Amino acid sequence: MTSRSLNNSFKPQKKVIDFIRYCFKEEIKGDLLAQEKGRKGLIRFLIKTEDGSYTLKSDEISGKAEKMHTIHGAITESREKFVKPSLLENKKDIKVLDICSGLGYNAAALLEYLDLKNNREIKLDLDMVEISPEVLAAGLLIPSPIKSHHIIKKAYEEELINQSFAKLKLVKSSIPPNINFNIFTRDAREVVTQLKPKYYDAIFLDPFSPSKSAELYSVEFLRELKRIIKNDGIISTYTSAAPVRSGFIDAGFHIGEGPVFGRKSGGTLASLNLENIKVDISDDDERMIALSDVGIPFKDPDLNSTSNEIMNNRTLERKKARGNYKLSSTVKTPLFLGKKLDNDRLGRRVLRNMNKLKLDDPQSKNSFYLICPQQEFCQCGCGEPKIYNSRDRIRKMSQRLFFYSN
Ligand SMILES: C[S@@+](CC[C@H](N)C(=O)[O-])C[C@H]1O[C@@H](n2cnc3c(N)ncnc32)[C@H](O)[C@@H]1O
Repeated sequence: MTSRSLNNSFKPQKKVIDFIRYCFKEEIKGDLLAQEKGRKGLIRFLIKTEDGSYTLKSDEISGKAEKMHTIHGAITESREKFVKPSLLENKKDIKVLDICSGLGYNAAALLEYLDLKNNREIKLDLDMVEISPEVLAAGLLIPSPIKSHHIIKKAYEEELINQSFAKLKLVKSSIPPNINFNIFTRDAREVVTQLKPKYYDAIFLDPFSPSKSAELYSVEFLRELKRIIKNDGIISTYTSAAPVRSGFIDAGFHIGEGPVFGRKSGGTLASLNLENIKVDISDDDERMIALSDVGIPFKDPDLNSTSNEIMNNRTLERKKARGNYKLSSTVKTPLFLGKKLDNDRLGRRVLRNMNKLKLDDPQSKNSFYLICPQQEFCQCGCGEPKIYNSRDRIRKMSQRLFFYSN
């Protein structure tokens, strides 16, 4: 992996990173109070979320920043969107991979939810990947949102001392003997290729948004996750973005809607086992992914492109595909298939988009043929039954459009 891609990873605000690096350098030089000063200094960067837990801002791109967690409740999001949907409560020997472990909230919510401090019958191997040692250090300094976070702090402290990033053992908690941590402070793309096959029961995938960290949502990266997850394992991520969902499908996963919390739509759950998918994604989302250019996934063939390169290549690919072998995603054209169009501005626009793919009427046989895998009763004459899962419906609709447009 080139250092170029590492340097381009999207991280928390540079001012925070610089401040934390400075504090820990002072500790290494011998300042016994450096962490205390860091804790106080960090307060000015903290953002309180609705459940009382704190988050930090990301760096800015074109004047825009994100937060590391939803403003509606950082630690609640961890529990609701990552931990609960992973369905781990009845397992005894659990292996979890926490990608983009950040401040350690997802991991803390996991320990708390499974009551790992008291329940010694459960054994947990928790592998955490975070590119930035400064973020691990921020996890040490930030007020803990729940008790179990102190255990994560201890694991982070040990890792930072191992790396000679920190010197002092200040965290009072100890790591219970039933939890085994492995912390990787490296690019997740580099780490995943070195992990054991068919190993994890759950993977938390929690990068910044797909437009900022596209490299962690590419088909090639998700294929690596397919290699290392057990057949009945579950990947959870907060995003519902079309290219992420199509990336999972191209990598071979079934996908479903994750729980809704703090945003309009749920996140995404992915598993190789259809039984783990309780809620399909919506018909509209399936159609947009299968039939329009918005479903073109992120590609990172050698796992070393920058997010910008991946985004730019996808933009070019979308442009080529639109009106050529994919319907245009503008005005949500695929959602009008099978419907009667009004003769107004919108109707004429939709029809123009359809005409580019030689669809002259949204209620023609050809139009019904494209969406038939979603229909209870066949209206195109192919006679094939409805398909009962999102992945295979998307694949089938996409194949039909491909054959039709060629
Ligand atoms: C949305 S935050 C994660 C929040 C975290 N899960 C928590 O519980 O606090 C995204 C994190 O991904 C990290 N990151 C960015 N690019 C990365 C990469 N290529 N590999 C690993 N971590 C990365 C950032 O430094 C940041 O801490």
